[in-house]
Amino acid sequence: MCGIAGYTGPKEADSVLTVALERLKYRGYDSAGLAVLAEGDVGIRRAPGKLKNLSDLLAAKPLRGHTGIGHTRWATHGAPTECNAHPHTSNDGKVAVVHNGIIENHEHLRRELTAKGCIFRSETDTETIPHLIASLYTGDPLAAIRAAVGRLEGSYSLAVVFADKPGHIYAARQASPLLVGKGKREMLLASDLPALLPHAHQVCYLGEGEIADLTPEGIELWSFDGTPVTAAFAPIEITAEAVSKGDFDSFMAKEIAEQPTVLARLVDSRLRAGRLVEPDLGLDLKAVNHIVFLGCGTSWHAALLGKRFLEALARVHVEVDISSEYRYRNPIASGDTLVVAISQSGETADTLAGLRLARAKFIPVVGLVNVVTSTIARESSGMMPLLAGPEIGVASTKAYTAQVMAMYLFALQVAKAKGLLSLAQEESAIAAALLIPELAARTLALCEAEVAEAADLFASAHATVFLGRGGEHATALEGALKLKEIAYVHAVGYPAGEFKHGPIALVTNQLPVVCICPKDAMYEKMLSNLQEVRARAGRIIVVGEQGDRALQDLSDHLFPVATSADHMLQPLLSILPLQRYAYHVARRRDCDVDQPRNLAKSVTVE
Ligand code: G6P
Repeated sequence: MCGIAGYTGPKEADSVLTVALERLKYRGYDSAGLAVLAEGDVGIRRAPGKLKNLSDLLAAKPLRGHTGIGHTRWATHGAPTECNAHPHTSNDGKVAVVHNGIIENHEHLRRELTAKGCIFRSETDTETIPHLIASLYTGDPLAAIRAAVGRLEGSYSLAVVFADKPGHIYAARQASPLLVGKGKREMLLASDLPALLPHAHQVCYLGEGEIADLTPEGIELWSFDGTPVTAAFAPIEITAEAVSKGDFDSFMAKEIAEQPTVLARLVDSRLRAGRLVEPDLGLDLKAVNHIVFLGCGTSWHAALLGKRFLEALARVHVEVDISSEYRYRNPIASGDTLVVAISQSGETADTLAGLRLARAKFIPVVGLVNVVTSTIARESSGMMPLLAGPEIGVASTKAYTAQVMAMYLFALQVAKAKGLLSLAQEESAIAAALLIPELAARTLALCEAEVAEAADLFASAHATVFLGRGGEHATALEGALKLKEIAYVHAVGYPAGEFKHGPIALVTNQLPVVCICPKDAMYEKMLSNLQEVRARAGRIIVVGEQGDRALQDLSDHLFPVATSADHMLQPLLSILPLQRYAYHVARRRDCDVDQPRNLAKSVTVE
């Protein structure tokens, strides 16, 4: 939550920082602000609402200078108003701070600083930091910051500028991510890699409890106790194109369209000479008899499919837990347990806490993550990268299908390690997986016209129900979540067989019911469910095989999907029209699909 950025170098800081904040706005977009150093002064501009408001303010009241810090906010303490927007400053205006995280002892510090004469102008926890630093400052910024972080409790990454230290940005990190980028006689700072592009060519990830001093010439780094640390830079491997919308109207549309490529890359990465290769997990998979999948939101839905794959292919007992529930019970674990932490961002606080709980019980944890430099990736004992590329739209799409495919490949791997997969079975499973990218591309093309037409008809519906059985129950939950997240339509996903035990009371001729009906063992049962909805005049949308007469006869709309050779992989195709449906409904309701209200992509608070 919240994104921070910094720049010091020859360019105008405001223009570099507004581009950086644009790339960080997925972390929050309640307000934004900049502090720029010029002629012994700190210029501040802040605006509530979307980043555009800050850009308009800067156009009207420019900030000139070559060193600055910026912030995009997801409100925790205090409403999303201008006075709660970052940067926050000391009362003399000489110290400005941007912050990502939560200062847990802020009330105590606020009382103490108020007693010393500080005047607080916001409701934020963050405002304690500039007052604290200013109260400790006697000309040595590092000494003041070191003393200040000694008083702060909680999680934070900070960027600080001092009016009397031109060219310098100071940064500190405790539990929230912070990256330093090196360009040509310029240095940058950001909460995430895309914000360092295109200026930086190399990146250094600040470690826990480190303080940095950045100038255009370079970086000096210390641990909180003052011990010097060598900054380790590595080349930046993503490009500016990978984090731009290209020809699409939104990141979500681009990311939906990227799925065939993402799935092909993932499957290819796990094959050598036509056989599956094990990701280096440092584990004896043969000895694993109990797996716990942890995830939140979309990642939790993917985990529901992972359970089906593992149980069917590898006959391993699997539990799926919502991370925020797992962390507050006392889970039972034995020597043959493995925890798999599933997270696109690799920063979700609840999943990270679940991982730490498992590791404290000496349970190995494999991270199934997209951002390979994330905290979950670093703290896992083994890692399975999703290779989906940067996902920027808040609603997860390509990371979901990559998670599902990665779990299918993992299940095959465990089955192989346990001697449950013959060579012929391995070959046919690989062949089915290799077909999916092409089938996904075909599905996206096939379904588009019907999806757009149904969205026209149902955009004003107040609620939508999604029904599926088996693996398609996960698709129903994920389809419903997409519609809630970006179109603000109340939606529920239900196991179709359970629908008659209560929710069927909702059906009227105003209610769209989306039924996911692949030609699998549950097909006939789904036809019965369709009949039940139809008998009550519900409006039926079906996701099913193109040209299926029975489905056409029973539905108002058929979203056609290609058919996978392996039924287990069908949910990878069924979800595609539902992602597009949510997108179209959101557009028709004038919703911002990339930045839905109240949400953030990376939820780093409880
Ligand atoms: C947030 C996002 C969801 C996402 C969830 C888990 O709530 O809005 O789209 O599914 O976090 O994120 P993760 O990065 O752990 O997969």
